[in-house]
Amino acid sequence: MSETAKIELGGNVYEFPVIEGTENEKAIDISNLRAATGYVTLDTGYKNTGATTSAITFLDGEEGILKYRGYPIEELAEKATFIEVAYLLIYGNLPTQLQLDTFRSNITKHTLVHEDMKQFFEAYPAKAHPMGVLSSMVCSLSTFYPESLDPNRSPEAKDLTILRLLAKLPTLAAWAYKNSMRHPFMYPKNEFDYCKNFLYMMFAMPTEEFKVDPVVVDALNKLLILHADHEQNCSTSTVRIVGSSQANLYASISAGISALWGPLHGGANQEVIEMLEKIHADGGDVDKWVLKAKDKEDPFRLMGFGHRVYKNFDPRAKIIKKACDDILEKLGVNDPLLAIAKRLEQVALEDEYFKSRNLYPNVDFYSGIIYKAIGIPTEMFTVMFAIGRLPGWIAQWKEMTENKEPIGRPRQIYTGEVLRHYDSIENRK
Ligand code: ACO
Repeated sequence: MSETAKIELGGNVYEFPVIEGTENEKAIDISNLRAATGYVTLDTGYKNTGATTSAITFLDGEEGILKYRGYPIEELAEKATFIEVAYLLIYGNLPTQLQLDTFRSNITKHTLVHEDMKQFFEAYPAKAHPMGVLSSMVCSLSTFYPESLDPNRSPEAKDLTILRLLAKLPTLAAWAYKNSMRHPFMYPKNEFDYCKNFLYMMFAMPTEEFKVDPVVVDALNKLLILHADHEQNCSTSTVRIVGSSQANLYASISAGISALWGPLHGGANQEVIEMLEKIHADGGDVDKWVLKAKDKEDPFRLMGFGHRVYKNFDPRAKIIKKACDDILEKLGVNDPLLAIAKRLEQVALEDEYFKSRNLYPNVDFYSGIIYKAIGIPTEMFTVMFAIGRLPGWIAQWKEMTENKEPIGRPRQIYTGEVLRHYDSIENRK
């Protein structure tokens, strides 16, 4: 007989099925809980709640395992291109040569954004944070493609929106940066691959020949792959929940970008560099900042340390740490912030506070250092994360629509006033 879970409430025993995933992880299926018992569950921050079943990404935080569609992240980071991984996540299998060529060339056809959108950029202040610009620009894309407003229109229309998003996000991201510098926009060059084209739009100037070290292109490819999906995190759940109302894909991805922006999520990579700069400006006394991080009265946290699900190590951090060492050596970067980062990593890994709480450097600790070394400005770090995460968000949205999941609508336990009556204003205290 299949396993069940029993809950005893008010003298009654209720049974709920236990479901098991392909990696043997188990869940008590309480879909029927409220109807059967009148109770709901309370799980602030969803630390124990599976919001969906999904066949896209598997991660085991205790064992430090991450796989996309069954492929270990280590293999993909070493051997694949970001576009191949995007195809894998979205369509479920690695592409054949023909599928890959078609996918790549279709993306290439859509890299331009409508000329009218250039005017939107010009209206933003130079100091506008590029995540704010990116999120609103992505939502604005929906206004140019009204046929995308009904996400269920047809599989072909869905695929076209997916291609447009993958193609245009790097253009929008690079232009957000160019605009902040008040530099001329560089139009995409379709002879370049995805990563090189992005670097071209970011760093090329019309007056100069564009050159980029292949080491930098490779590093970017790896970083984007490592960020491409991470199952049900804050931004991905946001994309799925916004999409569950049948809002269009642009709106759903725009919401995901906003969720990613926060310093406890994708914004951490920017915070890491800002923290290292602060420590450096303060004289570089790492021990002092470690003490601050441990002090419960002090709101300071070591940015880039800790993770909601990885309680052993973050497999992405392992890959990226090596990539970080390689690229810094190849580019001959000698940055004082790096020495602080290394010392911080060492102190935190040996310190009982961090060890007992399983606080290890996460992927964002190293990604910020690489981005800095390849010349990406700090405010663009989270934008880079968004470019990487886009295929994952799309895959999760697509899966959610194909599974015909119901609109996301959590419950709550109300703790407010029970009943009050309206007082005229002169009687209020
Ligand atoms: N520095 C110091 N102490 C920390 C840190 C940190 N970076 N992270 C967690 N702790 C402590 C907490 O104070 C808490 O201590 P306590 O048990 O004595 O109260 C304990 O470790 C558990 O922390 P929680 O906040 O409960 O863990 P949670 O799983 O909710 O948070 C999070 C995970 C948000 C990532 C947290 O570790 C953090 O704020 N890290 C810094 C921000 C960061 O790097 N975010 C990027 C995450 S990776 C990503 O989004 C791609």
